[in-house]
Amino acid sequence: MLEIERAVCGCDYGGTSWTTRGQADKIIDMLKLKPGRRLLDVGSGSGWPGLYLARWTGCDVTLTDLPLAGLRIARNRAAADQLKGEYRILSAGGAALPFGDGWFDAIHHADVLCCLVEKLAVLKSCRRVVRRGGKMVFSVIVMAPNLTAAGHKQAMEGGPAFIESSATYPDMLREANWEIAGHADLTAEFLESSRQHVTGQETYAREIADAFGKDMACEMVTRRRAAIAALENGLLRRELFDAAPAGNGKG
Ligand SMILES: C[S@@+](CC[C@H](N)C(=O)[O-])C[C@H]1O[C@@H](n2cnc3c(N)ncnc32)[C@H](O)[C@@H]1O
Repeated sequence: MLEIERAVCGCDYGGTSWTTRGQADKIIDMLKLKPGRRLLDVGSGSGWPGLYLARWTGCDVTLTDLPLAGLRIARNRAAADQLKGEYRILSAGGAALPFGDGWFDAIHHADVLCCLVEKLAVLKSCRRVVRRGGKMVFSVIVMAPNLTAAGHKQAMEGGPAFIESSATYPDMLREANWEIAGHADLTAEFLESSRQHVTGQETYAREIADAFGKDMACEMVTRRRAAIAALENGLLRRELFDAAPAGNGKG
């Protein structure tokens, strides 16, 4: 799986988002990361890209997620990488971040909001812990608007578990007191990565079946092919939001 990740995303952290190394490099600039800055990576999994961002900028980093397994891998990676800044790794839900108001300079999350129900609560929680003048950058997989019933079904089959949302991300950001500073459509890169991923899964089919079992290996390829079909039909998108606290960061 790490071989596939290197080929597709250019990294080997055991990542599960679709953030590529090139995208992570752009996030460094968007978040103005440098030594002394405090970065929070919500839903960090095993450390991609939070640990990478910290390694290449020297910023302090805090990683949070719920499953301990990924956080343990992140802890080992952080130690092996001998990060120059401070790092903290803890289990916490994104909707109830256990930090003081305004503690962080920068917040990032990669394809996390489409993996949970409480999207607005996470955006509000992030808003509370970012300082005035801070930034938040995140990617998310969304359904295209105004889908037919058949299109909706296909998007659900190809998208992440909690892709459905009762409000749009711009509306939720506004409600959580963020303003949008930038927005990018990463769908074309996502489609290309998905195709490369299937090629990798086919190349390593025997090894993946040995590791995960034949049924799971088959389901993984089926799911990825469903995502590709939905993307090719314009039913799914991957978007990047660059947000700042609303009202010049007051409050
Ligand atoms: C697509 S993965 C991204 C993981 C990692 N950042 C990466 O790029 O590989 C989404 C992550 O969100 C985490 N997650 C799901 N629900 C969460 C919640 N309520 N609070 C915090 N993290 C959550 C999952 O455990 C998972 O690690």
